[in-house]
Amino acid sequence: MQENVVLQVNNLKKYFPVESGFLKRQVGEVRAVDDVSFAIAQGETVSLVGESGCGKTTTSRCVIRAIQPTGGEILYRTEAGKVVDLAKLSMNEIRPLRRGFQMVFQDPFSSLNPRMTIFDIVSEPLRVNNIGSRAEREDRVAELLKLVGLRGEYMQRFPHAFSGGQRQRIGIARALAASPRLIVADEPVSALDVSVQAQVLNLMMDLQDELGLTYLFVSHDLSVVNQISNRVIVMYVGRVAEIGPPQALFKDPKHPYTAALITSLPKPDPFNRSDRQIPEGEVANPANPPSGCYFHPRCPFAIDRCRQETPALEEIAPGRAVSCHRARELQLFEQVEG
Ligand SMILES: Nc1ncnc2c1ncn2[C@@H]1O[C@H](COP(=O)(O)OP(=O)(O)OP(=O)(O)O)[C@@H](O)[C@H]1O
Ligand code: SF4
Ligand SMILES: [Mg+2]
Repeated sequence: MQENVVLQVNNLKKYFPVESGFLKRQVGEVRAVDDVSFAIAQGETVSLVGESGCGKTTTSRCVIRAIQPTGGEILYRTEAGKVVDLAKLSMNEIRPLRRGFQMVFQDPFSSLNPRMTIFDIVSEPLRVNNIGSRAEREDRVAELLKLVGLRGEYMQRFPHAFSGGQRQRIGIARALAASPRLIVADEPVSALDVSVQAQVLNLMMDLQDELGLTYLFVSHDLSVVNQISNRVIVMYVGRVAEIGPPQALFKDPKHPYTAALITSLPKPDPFNRSDRQIPEGEVANPANPPSGCYFHPRCPFAIDRCRQETPALEEIAPGRAVSCHRARELQLFEQVEG
């Protein structure tokens, strides 16, 4: 693993059993994450995007070991510089490492316990890790609240006193309490009003610069990740369709699914809006995926080979990889000279 890499995920798999009947016999499996690999260097933001059910949350929950992966490696560089495979460690071995990787959740309404004060919520990672005395924790919570743009006095209040945007700031303060290196944020702005989304994203970007944080960012919204990511991973039915820097992906997508996601984004120009719902068709069922390329039933470019053979993820340029048999031959967007 390269020295500046904080997280390297290799061939991650998470299959959930499908059970049926009174005896709960296993009758199949949901391949929620099926052979996903990526790396994030210190200070970078890597985003996972794709339609609902493509495995973004499952990937991020495996990374923080909220769930046990079925296979693959989750190589994580600890603060001390040691590389460990989180996929193989026991819960006891993971506990002392946990302060290094923290999660920001999607819903700031359900993720903050309504019966706990803001002090109790934000200081939780410190308490769990036995960091500091009560007085030191109060100082730290006041400092953290200030860092996320809230007043220190708020620590005596309860979550109901705050708006969605403020609650998400509190969730971010909690994630930062134990000075983590890696933040996994699962749709951190999706539940917020559009007007507040940009403020919270800007806060996250400022904190990244200030604290040197590394982000794994999950979003179904390509326009959000475009603004904040160093690299975007487009997922389809548990697999990686395409990886690349957002500018390159937007200008010249190489996977038909990426192109379809971009085309379906609302256009800023109201007179030039596409009213086509793209990508057309249903997302494939990860418990019963189609043969060959999982995208073939929806792909306008599918050929016989696509129905028979699963495309491998191949590097087509430095930093860009695509899993499509026709990636080198298709020109999906018109290229403007200069
Ligand atoms: N605990 C579970 N048991 C069985 N299947 C599950 C479980 N968790 C997730 N799945 C299935 O795994 C697949 C991926 O789900 P996941 O929540 O990771 O998708 P997602 O990309 O985060 O979607 P969304 O955009 O809706 O949040 C889905 O088909 C989902 O139904
Ligand atoms: S492999 Fe075939 S079906 Fe799959 S995205 Fe490429 S062209 Fe479409
Ligand atoms: Mg999700």
